[in-house]
Amino acid sequence: MKKAAETQHAIHPSIKSRWSPRAFSNKQVEPEKLLAVLEAARWAASAMNEQPWRFIVATKDNPAEFEQALHCLNEGNQRWAKDAPVLIFTIIKKTFTRNDRPNRVALHDLGLAVANLTMQATELGLHAHQMGGIQFDKIREVYQIPEDYEVVTGIALGYYGNIEQLPEDLQEREKGPRLRKPLSELIFAGTWAKPASFVNNNP
Ligand SMILES: Cc1cc2nc3c(=O)[nH]c(=O)nc-3n(C[C@H](O)[C@H](O)[C@H](O)COP(=O)(O)O)c2cc1C
Repeated sequence: MKKAAETQHAIHPSIKSRWSPRAFSNKQVEPEKLLAVLEAARWAASAMNEQPWRFIVATKDNPAEFEQALHCLNEGNQRWAKDAPVLIFTIIKKTFTRNDRPNRVALHDLGLAVANLTMQATELGLHAHQMGGIQFDKIREVYQIPEDYEVVTGIALGYYGNIEQLPEDLQEREKGPRLRKPLSELIFAGTWAKPASFVNNNP
Protein backbone atom coordinates (compact mmCIF):
# COMPACT_ATOMS: atom_id res chain seq x y z
CA MET A 1 0.00 0.00 0.00
CA LYS A 2 1.25 3.46 -0.90
CA LYS A 3 0.11 6.75 0.64
CA ALA A 4 2.25 9.40 -1.02
CA ALA A 5 1.65 12.95 0.20
CA GLU A 6 -0.46 15.16 -2.06
CA THR A 7 1.95 18.07 -2.01
CA GLN A 8 1.32 21.58 -3.31
CA HIS A 9 4.98 21.95 -4.28
CA ALA A 10 7.50 19.43 -5.57
CA ILE A 11 9.50 17.75 -2.77
CA HIS A 12 12.09 14.98 -2.42
CA PRO A 13 10.56 11.62 -3.41
CA SER A 14 11.47 10.01 -0.07
CA ILE A 15 9.71 12.78 1.86
CA LYS A 16 6.68 12.47 -0.40
CA SER A 17 6.34 8.71 -0.11
CA ARG A 18 7.18 8.30 3.61
CA TRP A 19 4.21 7.45 5.78
CA SER A 20 3.52 5.63 9.06
CA PRO A 21 1.93 2.23 8.43
CA ARG A 22 0.73 -0.29 10.97
CA ALA A 23 0.60 -3.40 8.76
CA PHE A 24 4.22 -4.55 8.87
CA SER A 25 5.50 -7.68 7.18
CA ASN A 26 7.45 -10.01 9.47
CA LYS A 27 10.18 -10.22 6.82
CA GLN A 28 13.51 -9.48 8.50
CA VAL A 29 15.32 -6.26 7.68
CA GLU A 30 18.68 -7.14 6.12
CA PRO A 31 21.53 -6.23 8.53
CA GLU A 32 23.16 -3.93 5.95
CA LYS A 33 19.87 -2.03 5.54
CA LEU A 34 19.40 -1.71 9.29
CA LEU A 35 22.94 -0.40 9.59
CA ALA A 36 22.39 2.06 6.73
CA VAL A 37 19.30 3.44 8.46
CA LEU A 38 21.22 3.91 11.73
CA GLU A 39 24.21 5.35 9.86
CA ALA A 40 21.90 7.98 8.34
CA ALA A 41 20.79 8.92 11.86
CA ARG A 42 24.43 9.16 12.96
CA TRP A 43 25.18 11.80 10.34
CA ALA A 44 22.57 14.32 11.46
CA ALA A 45 23.69 17.78 12.52
CA SER A 46 23.67 18.58 16.24
CA ALA A 47 24.48 21.51 18.53
CA MET A 48 28.21 21.48 19.40
CA ASN A 49 28.30 18.17 17.52
CA GLU A 50 27.11 16.62 20.78
CA GLN A 51 25.18 13.84 18.96
CA PRO A 52 22.83 13.53 21.95
CA TRP A 53 20.84 10.68 20.36
CA ARG A 54 21.06 7.05 21.47
CA PHE A 55 19.10 4.11 20.03
CA ILE A 56 18.20 0.78 21.63
CA VAL A 57 17.44 -1.73 18.88
CA ALA A 58 15.58 -5.04 19.18
CA THR A 59 15.24 -7.37 16.20
CA LYS A 60 12.95 -10.38 15.85
CA ASP A 61 15.87 -12.73 15.24
CA ASN A 62 16.51 -12.33 18.97
CA PRO A 63 13.01 -13.26 20.22
CA ALA A 64 13.71 -12.57 23.92
CA GLU A 65 15.00 -9.07 23.22
CA PHE A 66 12.14 -8.40 20.82
CA GLU A 67 9.49 -9.47 23.37
CA GLN A 68 11.17 -7.31 26.01
CA ALA A 69 10.96 -4.28 23.71
CA LEU A 70 7.41 -5.04 22.56
CA HIS A 71 6.18 -5.10 26.17
CA CYS A 72 7.61 -1.63 26.69
CA LEU A 73 5.11 -0.17 24.20
CA ASN A 74 1.61 0.95 25.16
CA GLU A 75 -0.99 -1.74 24.55
CA GLY A 76 -2.53 0.15 21.62
CA ASN A 77 0.79 0.16 19.81
CA GLN A 78 1.60 -3.46 20.72
CA ARG A 79 -1.48 -4.55 18.75
CA TRP A 80 0.20 -3.75 15.45
CA ALA A 81 3.90 -3.25 16.27
CA LYS A 82 4.17 -6.94 17.20
CA ASP A 83 4.39 -7.69 13.47
CA ALA A 84 7.32 -5.34 12.76
CA PRO A 85 10.71 -7.08 12.66
CA VAL A 86 12.59 -4.22 14.36
CA LEU A 87 11.72 -2.04 17.35
CA ILE A 88 13.84 0.93 18.33
CA PHE A 89 13.76 3.22 21.36
CA THR A 90 15.17 6.73 21.03
CA ILE A 91 16.91 8.43 23.92
CA ILE A 92 18.63 11.78 24.44
CA LYS A 93 21.52 12.78 26.64
CA LYS A 94 20.19 15.81 28.52
CA THR A 95 23.49 17.64 29.11
CA PHE A 96 26.46 18.66 26.98
CA THR A 97 29.42 16.40 27.63
CA ARG A 98 31.95 19.23 27.33
CA ASN A 99 30.52 21.38 30.15
CA ASP A 100 27.67 19.43 31.83
CA ARG A 101 25.23 22.27 31.00
CA PRO A 102 21.64 21.38 30.01
CA ASN A 103 21.31 20.72 26.28
CA ARG A 104 18.18 22.72 25.41
CA VAL A 105 18.18 21.41 21.83
CA ALA A 106 18.80 17.71 22.45
CA LEU A 107 15.22 16.83 21.48
CA HIS A 108 15.58 18.91 18.34
CA ASP A 109 18.77 17.08 17.40
CA LEU A 110 17.22 13.68 18.05
CA GLY A 111 14.39 14.75 15.72
CA LEU A 112 16.94 15.52 13.01
CA ALA A 113 18.53 12.11 13.47
CA VAL A 114 15.17 10.34 13.31
CA ALA A 115 14.22 12.34 10.20
CA ASN A 116 17.42 11.06 8.56
CA LEU A 117 16.56 7.56 9.72
CA THR A 118 13.06 7.67 8.23
CA MET A 119 14.30 9.15 4.94
CA GLN A 120 16.95 6.45 4.59
CA ALA A 121 14.41 3.78 5.48
CA THR A 122 12.05 5.03 2.75
CA GLU A 123 14.92 5.11 0.27
CA LEU A 124 15.59 1.41 1.04
CA GLY A 125 11.94 0.37 0.65
CA LEU A 126 11.38 0.21 4.41
CA HIS A 127 8.85 1.98 6.64
CA ALA A 128 9.37 3.57 10.04
CA HIS A 129 6.43 4.27 12.37
CA GLN A 130 7.30 6.49 15.30
CA MET A 131 5.53 6.09 18.64
CA GLY A 132 5.07 8.39 21.61
CA GLY A 133 2.88 5.69 23.15
CA ILE A 134 5.56 3.84 25.09
CA GLN A 135 6.11 2.99 28.77
CA PHE A 136 8.82 5.47 29.73
CA ASP A 137 9.42 4.32 33.32
CA LYS A 138 9.46 0.68 32.33
CA ILE A 139 11.98 1.34 29.54
CA ARG A 140 14.26 3.19 31.95
CA GLU A 141 14.10 0.29 34.37
CA VAL A 142 14.35 -2.59 31.86
CA TYR A 143 17.32 -1.10 29.99
CA GLN A 144 18.91 0.53 33.06
CA ILE A 145 19.01 3.98 31.47
CA PRO A 146 21.12 6.43 33.51
CA GLU A 147 19.76 9.66 35.08
CA ASP A 148 21.30 12.00 32.53
CA TYR A 149 19.39 10.35 29.67
CA GLU A 150 15.71 10.60 28.74
CA VAL A 151 13.61 8.13 26.76
CA VAL A 152 11.76 9.95 23.96
CA THR A 153 10.03 7.64 21.44
CA GLY A 154 9.77 4.17 19.99
CA ILE A 155 10.03 3.32 16.29
CA ALA A 156 8.72 0.24 14.48
CA LEU A 157 10.78 -0.48 11.36
CA GLY A 158 10.28 -2.97 8.54
CA TYR A 159 8.69 -3.79 5.21
CA TYR A 160 5.03 -3.25 4.46
CA GLY A 161 2.81 -6.29 5.02
CA ASN A 162 -0.86 -6.69 4.16
CA ILE A 163 -3.64 -4.43 5.39
CA GLU A 164 -5.84 -7.48 6.04
CA GLN A 165 -3.58 -8.67 8.83
CA LEU A 166 -4.79 -5.71 10.94
CA PRO A 167 -7.87 -5.72 13.21
CA GLU A 168 -10.78 -3.96 11.48
CA ASP A 169 -10.53 -0.67 13.36
CA LEU A 170 -6.85 -0.37 12.44
CA GLN A 171 -7.60 -1.22 8.80
CA GLU A 172 -9.86 1.84 8.71
CA ARG A 173 -7.13 4.05 10.18
CA GLU A 174 -4.59 2.60 7.75
CA LYS A 175 -6.80 3.67 4.83
CA GLY A 176 -7.45 7.15 6.22
CA PRO A 177 -6.27 10.24 4.34
CA ARG A 178 -2.93 11.91 5.12
CA LEU A 179 -3.70 15.52 6.02
CA ARG A 180 -1.54 18.55 6.72
CA LYS A 181 -2.16 22.16 7.70
CA PRO A 182 -1.75 24.61 4.79
CA LEU A 183 1.56 26.52 4.59
CA SER A 184 -0.34 29.74 5.30
CA GLU A 185 -1.08 28.48 8.83
CA LEU A 186 2.56 27.67 9.43
CA ILE A 187 4.76 30.25 7.71
CA PHE A 188 4.64 33.82 9.05
CA ALA A 189 6.38 37.06 8.16
CA GLY A 190 6.45 40.47 9.84
CA THR A 191 4.45 39.47 12.89
CA TRP A 192 3.03 36.43 14.58
CA ALA A 193 0.33 34.61 12.59
CA LYS A 194 0.61 36.90 9.54
CA PRO A 195 1.10 34.52 6.63
CA ALA A 196 4.14 35.36 4.52
CA SER A 197 3.05 36.97 1.24
CA PHE A 198 5.04 34.51 -0.87
CA VAL A 199 2.95 31.74 0.69
CA ASN A 200 -0.37 33.54 0.24
CA ASN A 201 0.42 34.22 -3.39
CA ASN A 202 1.25 30.56 -4.02
CA PRO A 203 -1.32 28.50 -2.06
C1 LIG B 1 6.82 11.68 17.96
C2 LIG B 1 5.72 10.86 17.32
C3 LIG B 1 4.91 10.06 18.11
C4 LIG B 1 3.92 9.26 17.52
N1 LIG B 1 3.22 8.39 18.32
C5 LIG B 1 2.43 7.46 17.74
C6 LIG B 1 1.87 6.39 18.52
O1 LIG B 1 2.12 6.25 19.72
N2 LIG B 1 1.06 5.49 17.88
C7 LIG B 1 0.79 5.58 16.54
O2 LIG B 1 0.09 4.71 16.04
N3 LIG B 1 1.33 6.57 15.79
C8 LIG B 1 2.15 7.49 16.34
N4 LIG B 1 2.75 8.47 15.57
C9 LIG B 1 2.48 8.52 14.12
C10 LIG B 1 1.65 9.76 13.78
O3 LIG B 1 0.31 9.55 14.13
C11 LIG B 1 1.80 10.04 12.27
O4 LIG B 1 3.14 10.36 12.00
C12 LIG B 1 0.91 11.20 11.83
O5 LIG B 1 -0.45 10.86 11.95
C13 LIG B 1 1.17 11.60 10.38
O6 LIG B 1 1.02 10.49 9.54
P1 LIG B 1 2.20 10.05 8.54
O7 LIG B 1 3.43 9.76 9.38
O8 LIG B 1 1.69 8.79 7.88
O9 LIG B 1 2.43 11.18 7.60
C14 LIG B 1 3.71 9.30 16.12
C15 LIG B 1 4.52 10.12 15.33
C16 LIG B 1 5.52 10.89 15.91
C17 LIG B 1 6.40 11.74 15.02
